[in-house]
Amino acid sequence: MDFEQLQAQCMNCTRCGLHEGRTNVVFGMGNPGAPVMFVGEGPGQHEDEQGLPFVGRSGKLLDLYLDVVDLDREKVYIANIVKCRPPENRDPLPEESDTCLYWLRQQYKLIQPKILVCLGRVAAQRLIDPKFSVTRQHGEFILKGGTWFMGTFHPAALLRNGGQKPTALADFLALRTKIEEVCPELYRGR
Ligand code: URA
Ligand code: SF4
Repeated sequence: MDFEQLQAQCMNCTRCGLHEGRTNVVFGMGNPGAPVMFVGEGPGQHEDEQGLPFVGRSGKLLDLYLDVVDLDREKVYIANIVKCRPPENRDPLPEESDTCLYWLRQQYKLIQPKILVCLGRVAAQRLIDPKFSVTRQHGEFILKGGTWFMGTFHPAALLRNGGQKPTALADFLALRTKIEEVCPELYRGR
């Protein structure tokens, strides 16, 4: 199965209860050939309406951080733990995340990223460590199965608590250093 076929299948998914309230499946966006992948939690209202990840206020902030380290949405791939919006933006239930993880795993297998950045606790606890603490472990790179995993603050958390913005910026600068180390081709041609 190629990436487009995978996306087409996911667009019709009714594997978990979240399909009932959705306007659009938010499969992901960016370059499926990218060596760097970002994973958030799940679509909010704007993402649900537009069918694209991180297009609301959080997304604007994410774009700013990407820009600081000379990245943009065409250079990376952006997805979420769950592809359909949880009602009232609640956290996805464990069974919803478990079910939807099927799709993220297929995306991961096809993209084969060198680096995967978890945006926020929900993604980091699912993909790095069930006990992951963003406050204590943000910015640390952990090698798993040939991919460097790192967790940092969710942009929505930074919008609530601006005091963490410099710390998040430092994590993105560490990301740039890691890119230079493991996939410098991403920056060539600039
Ligand atoms: N928050 C997320 O976790 N993902 C999005 O796509 C948008 C906001
Ligand atoms: Fe399917 Fe994921 Fe949407 Fe649930 S959240 S219906 S598993 S795409």
